[in-house]
Amino acid sequence: MKKILSLFAAIAMAFSLAACSTTEYQGNNSSAASESSSTAPEQEITDSSSSEMEASGSDSSEISEEQGSNILVAYFSWADNAILADDVDAVASPSVIPPGNVQQLAGWVQEETGGDLFSIRVTDPYPSDWDDCLTRANEERGDNARPELVENVENLHQYDTVFLGYPNWWYGVPMALLRFLEENDLSGKQVYLFCSHGTGGLANSVELITEAAPNAIISDSIFDCYEEEAPSSEEPIRTWVKGLGYSRWVETEAESPAAQQRQISVQFGENTVIYELNDGTAAGSLYEQLPLTIQVEDYSTNEKIFYPPQSLDTSDSPLAQAGAGTLAYYEPWGDVVFFYGDYNENPSLFELGQVISGGELVSEMSGTITMNVLELTSQEIEAMEGLAGETPLNVIRGWEKEMK
Ligand SMILES: Cc1cc2nc3c(=O)[nH]c(=O)nc-3n(C[C@H](O)[C@H](O)[C@H](O)COP(=O)(O)O)c2cc1C
Repeated sequence: MKKILSLFAAIAMAFSLAACSTTEYQGNNSSAASESSSTAPEQEITDSSSSEMEASGSDSSEISEEQGSNILVAYFSWADNAILADDVDAVASPSVIPPGNVQQLAGWVQEETGGDLFSIRVTDPYPSDWDDCLTRANEERGDNARPELVENVENLHQYDTVFLGYPNWWYGVPMALLRFLEENDLSGKQVYLFCSHGTGGLANSVELITEAAPNAIISDSIFDCYEEEAPSSEEPIRTWVKGLGYSRWVETEAESPAAQQRQISVQFGENTVIYELNDGTAAGSLYEQLPLTIQVEDYSTNEKIFYPPQSLDTSDSPLAQAGAGTLAYYEPWGDVVFFYGDYNENPSLFELGQVISGGELVSEMSGTITMNVLELTSQEIEAMEGLAGETPLNVIRGWEKEMK
């Protein structure tokens, strides 16, 4: 076994070792199941309406009725494809004990999207012993085998979006995944891949999937996750799904448009500067940490910086474009930067947002600042847009009083 593991390790050197990442791939209810074998055990299907609202983690959100019914979350996981022997070695073969790594990831994607869950299962399950499973999987790979499946997806035509999860098996995919793709035509459907691996990353999996489903629209945004990080990857994979625009949880704070636009206030002394955050993941991470009372420091002649308590998730965030008024995050140091002068673009510098009011005050920031989610009325926002870049919040509030 050690030999095989070291082989994985050697191959892994070619890949990023980031525990969980969203890759921009560079390279080239209902029931979702229909029986194809009369001896098949019951397929586990999660109805899109069955998950609880709490899954969103937000009290102020509600289910969008639109989302979910057209989304299929199909996955292969060893734990769903093994007969557990009584003496299975849970240390040597951890992911064979349910829930499997990909199984867990798929569950979170299902909860976030409200889609239908489909476990790809073979009629002849794999050994639960790690070495034996590796051997059989390798034989199947060598034979270019297509293991028979318990069932296929019923009413596949109802889905236009498919999240497809799999483990890296022998630098590629379990051969059953190819059988699945050949028997369940994903042509014309939008497909998002998520993968768990033992340091080998995506390896050849995307090429193999693309070959087996040549007419599927496979997104370049792929979530991959190191096996030991899979059980704690709920937040990153939900963030990925949200970033793709498939979360079924929608904010309903209509009376708080500023919050929807993610505007924040930065207060120091009598001064207030207002920023509008972009919709990137890093801006989202900062937004979630508010309110913050924190020390700001001078850096160089064009920056005020602070270190947020938690690092920001840059997996889907734009790079900062040089210019005063930018709120940015420098990932190597983990600091948030208020720019008040020009700066050089940098591949590790991510834009969080832009100043919309009080930009001229940024250079005076010092000491303790308080950052807050901004709760404004639509009148205040309109006023602010008209006076952007010049007007501190207290003036706008005064203006609004005059209007009344
Ligand atoms: C048969 C088999 C082959 C594997 N081959 C690889 C590999 O080539 N590279 C790699 O990084 N991990 C490999 N792994 C590790 C799995 O990708 C990893 O443990 C994954 O998290 C398992 O997900 P699961 O629990 O949902 O099956 C292999 C695992 C098995 C069982």
